[in-house]
Amino acid sequence: MKKLEEVILSHGKVLGKDILKVDSFLNHQIKPKLIKEMGEEFAEHFKDKNINKILTVESSGIAPAVITGLVLDCDVVFARKQKSLTTDDNTFSSTCYSYTKEEMKRLIVSKDYLHENENVLLIDDFLANGQAAKAMVAICKQAGANVAGIGIVIEKSYQDGRKLLDDMGIDVYSLARISHMDGKEIEFID
Ligand code: G4P
Ligand code: NA
Ligand code: NA
Repeated sequence: MKKLEEVILSHGKVLGKDILKVDSFLNHQIKPKLIKEMGEEFAEHFKDKNINKILTVESSGIAPAVITGLVLDCDVVFARKQKSLTTDDNTFSSTCYSYTKEEMKRLIVSKDYLHENENVLLIDDFLANGQAAKAMVAICKQAGANVAGIGIVIEKSYQDGRKLLDDMGIDVYSLARISHMDGKEIEFID
């Protein structure tokens, strides 16, 4: 998505060599028109996949996921992040390690909102090491739901997540794919 690449170049800030700060349009302030274009782009890519549920993770995945759900006309569920590792009979859950935050977190989804045989599109804001995506896939598996694909706003292609998901045979569609970041420089894969 050309427009997104331009906004990343004009508004993104590279911290160290691994973190791209995009608080001005995605992770803190939200630019609705840009988010709308993201959702439309995901919906266009996955329109023939018979999607009937979207699953994302709170909080930054919610905005693009809601627009995608609006266009595809399906409900959107966001996995909640939980610090405590206690389980609950009425939830699907999966723990994952965040390399960025150096902590374990548990993602939980109520059994009321994810069902057997649903065709689920996963959406997230960043793909880094793929641990959040992997946890969402595990949750779908517990529910007996089918993962129809994954839509990512910004993929850092040089980290492990993309390969992990490709190896699982999942259709990954990323709106911007960063091949390299170094100080002020950001390079994209076409
Ligand atoms: P992974 O799922 O791909 O393994 O990533 P990781 O656990 O390392 O990511 C932890 C958090 O950091 C996630 O947000 C993820 O979206 C975000 N993240 C990863 N790399 C970057 C980056 O380069 N820039 C920014 N801005 N975020 C990054 P989160 O904790 O779930 O927070 P949020 O959804 O509430 O924003
Ligand atoms: Na995030
Ligand atoms: Na996220």
